[in-house]
Amino acid sequence: MTLSNTWPRHGKVTLKPFTEALTETEWRRFYECFRDPEIAEWNGSRPLRMPLWLFKRVVMGEVSRGDRMGFGILDENGEWLGTVELYEMSRTEATLGILIGAKDRWGQGYGTDAVRAVLEYAFCTLRLQKVRLRTYKHNLRAQRAFQKAGFRYLEPPPAPTPRFNFGLAPKAEFVPMEITREDWTCY
Ligand SMILES: CC(C)(COP(=O)(O)OP(=O)(O)OC[C@H]1O[C@@H](n2cnc3c(N)ncnc32)[C@H](O)[C@@H]1OP(=O)(O)O)[C@@H](O)C(=O)NCCC(=O)NCCS
Repeated sequence: MTLSNTWPRHGKVTLKPFTEALTETEWRRFYECFRDPEIAEWNGSRPLRMPLWLFKRVVMGEVSRGDRMGFGILDENGEWLGTVELYEMSRTEATLGILIGAKDRWGQGYGTDAVRAVLEYAFCTLRLQKVRLRTYKHNLRAQRAFQKAGFRYLEPPPAPTPRFNFGLAPKAEFVPMEITREDWTCY
């Protein structure tokens, strides 16, 4: 697999823009990430039920919209691990979303590297002023990865809460985080 040296990269990962031609294997992995119930739960969404052909059409429609930019996260061997996106983009700001679909690769630094790569692109190529996100209060792994990449809490960090609350309806509590261009050094 040939990785373009114009694609964003950091540490162990390279980001392949959705605007590039994706292989059938990459499409399949991309699709499977969004069908996984556990990942959907962490992500605050529902598992996808649409067929692959429709998923491709939806993604390509969003790619052409101009207010979002998405990338496949490729590991050292060019293998597709997940996706990272900038969405709700204006001339100065964007929201970041990320998921690593390969659960056996969680906790090995890929998420932090992917966030750093997309922030480098956001601040140094797009010249955005601010990137923000929100994540579940109980998603400590994501918060840790975002913090390592330079994001800070807008409110005091949340106190730990139990992952499950024994049958009570879960209350969705979100933690906002952000990083500005002043916090980032472009080389
Ligand atoms: C969130 C996600 C992108 C992070 O990627 P990752 O590759 O697993 O993250 P990293 O390995 O770079 O960093 C994770 C950090 O969290 C830590 N961590 C893991 N579980 C933790 C927990 N329960 N509490 C606190 N820290 C935890 C890890 O030890 C690591 O920190 P360290 O390097 O200081 O030891 C990935 O786990 C994922 O896709 N999760 C499911 C979808 C999701 O939650 N998306 C974010 C929605 S906003």
